[in-house]
Amino acid sequence: MKNLDNKIALVTGSSRGLGKEMAIRLAQQGADILVTYNSNSTLADETVKEIEALGQKALAFQLNVGDAHSFDTFFLNIKTSLEQHWNTSKFDILVNNAGIIAHEMVAETSETTFDNLVNIQLKGPFFITQKALPLLNDGGRIINISTGLARFSLPGYGAYASMKAGIEAFTRYLAKELGSRQITANVVAPGAINTDMNKDALENNPELEKILSSVTALGRVGVAKDIGGVVAFLASEDARWINGQRIEASGGMFL
Ligand SMILES: NC(=O)c1ccc[n+]([C@@H]2O[C@H](COP(=O)([O-])OP(=O)(O)OC[C@H]3O[C@@H](n4cnc5c(N)ncnc54)[C@H](OP(=O)(O)O)[C@@H]3O)[C@@H](O)[C@H]2O)c1
Repeated sequence: MKNLDNKIALVTGSSRGLGKEMAIRLAQQGADILVTYNSNSTLADETVKEIEALGQKALAFQLNVGDAHSFDTFFLNIKTSLEQHWNTSKFDILVNNAGIIAHEMVAETSETTFDNLVNIQLKGPFFITQKALPLLNDGGRIINISTGLARFSLPGYGAYASMKAGIEAFTRYLAKELGSRQITANVVAPGAINTDMNKDALENNPELEKILSSVTALGRVGVAKDIGGVVAFLASEDARWINGQRIEASGGMFL
């Protein structure tokens, strides 16, 4: 018997990076996974294959979290697929992970950058969660992904971090409003992690890895494997009394 046997999790942005690792770790604990991608269908198919190799079911769906008008159709597809492949119309765990980053000083941040971030990092998770609620089983879990940058401040991330701070407040409201359904809502806030999101920054600036390592108590930049298990834990029965919390997984950045 595994922790998450008979559970179904929807992980947005699980074609690669942190979302993929979260999906794998949830599947290792026995969950079936609804994988989503924005444009990388090939990578999403690879995630599905890796989950199937673990003995779990998985399906991949296209979803642009920046396009709130598409969410009704997306959840109609999810419902139909759940009925066809799982003989249920509901799932148990929602992980709002998909996202982008932008590095622009406040003085130079364009309205386009801001609107993109607000749509993908704040409005998207808000309305995905709203539309998911009728399909989420009572006793379920919502896990939203924030960032260490919502606690500490590094120049150039003002707009990005503002959205994530919004997600943290949103999560507390979810926890409060969904308690009567025994649904918990929590935030995982990773520190700097070496994924595609930071690849260019890390590759173009060899000093950056040294700097990030030096401000991290554990002395290195994070990897996706540092995060996936935290999400799997929050989804588990052992985490049932953790609610409305922000768990930072940063190796101790800027303590
Ligand atoms: N990496 C870090 O240091 C770090 C630290 C703290 C927090 N975070 C947060 O963790 C989350 C995942 O980051 P990551 O590092 O894993 O990023 P990543 O490696 O760039 O992967 C991004 C994922 O999100 C999907 N995605 C991007 N834009 C999307 C959109 N408009 N609609 C739907 N899906 C979209 C991508 O799909 P495609 O493959 O189809 O493009 C991909 O699956 C983000 O919310 C990020 O803000 C990251």
